[in-house]
Amino acid sequence: MSRVISIVNQKGGVGKTTTAINLASSLAYLKKKVLIIDFDAQGNSSHGYGIDISLLSKTIYEAITGRMDINNVIKKTLVKNVDLIPANLRLTNFESEVSGTNEPFAYLRKTIKKINKKYDYILIDCPPSLGLLSINALTASDSALIPVQCEYFAMEGLAQVLATIKKVQSSYNHDLEIEGFLLTMYEMRSTLGKEVISQIRGLFKENTFNVEIPRNLSISEACGKGIPVSLYKPTSAGSRAYLQLAKEILENARIREQNNHSN
Ligand SMILES: Nc1ncnc2c1ncn2[C@@H]1O[C@H](COP(=O)(O)OP(=O)(O)OP(=O)(O)O)[C@@H](O)[C@H]1O
Ligand SMILES: [Mg+2]
Repeated sequence: MSRVISIVNQKGGVGKTTTAINLASSLAYLKKKVLIIDFDAQGNSSHGYGIDISLLSKTIYEAITGRMDINNVIKKTLVKNVDLIPANLRLTNFESEVSGTNEPFAYLRKTIKKINKKYDYILIDCPPSLGLLSINALTASDSALIPVQCEYFAMEGLAQVLATIKKVQSSYNHDLEIEGFLLTMYEMRSTLGKEVISQIRGLFKENTFNVEIPRNLSISEACGKGIPVSLYKPTSAGSRAYLQLAKEILENARIREQNNHSN
């Protein structure tokens, strides 16, 4: 079975898409088969893999609304073992289309059931809101990965993300876990960055990844070129940090497995 991870935070520009793109390529480097679901009408993670979304008619929207089989909207990427389901502006119709239906939160979960055995990891790149798309993502997920930017107001809004996760846990998906909080765009020389880090680690000790993603030019340049940083500048600090994140996620999996066996 795939492990499905939502990358979620309603705050904009905190590194959700960057994490989806680069965590996927790092997990693939570690021999895992990965699918990215671009679940944001901005289509940024599709762009991040060099896919031109403007004229696409096979997107996640067609799959979740039952217009197309999910297997027909999956695209191969330039990275071996990374597939991607793109999104574009049509995804903005989803919410109004399904809001009056029986289980508006369960569309994505039902849709990805079909491909659950094809991948080791399915990463969902959520939009910057906690609306029906993010609720669908969390309902379909085993866990949530929450990027937190090491900047002013980093804590702002985290209570809302956590409240949404709680709501999904209590109503739609009892098994939803927190994969971890990820500190992003860390600037070594910034005292503010250090403060945010100690605040987050103080509050969410067990749940915060050890690795901190540095603010790194190679990461943003790679994104502009439509390739993950591990291909663009494999030895850059950004590339190494995302590889470290992938290793921590595999280690989480190993520990879970061990606990399952001993229970
Ligand atoms: N570690 C980093 N170093 C340098 N630039 C970064 C880093 N992480 C993200 N960025 C840049 O910051 C901007 C925002 O990042 P990103 O798009 O990943 O955030 P997001 O949370 O997905 O945004 P949105 O909420 O709009 O979907 C992008 O231009 C990205 O290239
Ligand atoms: Mg994004």
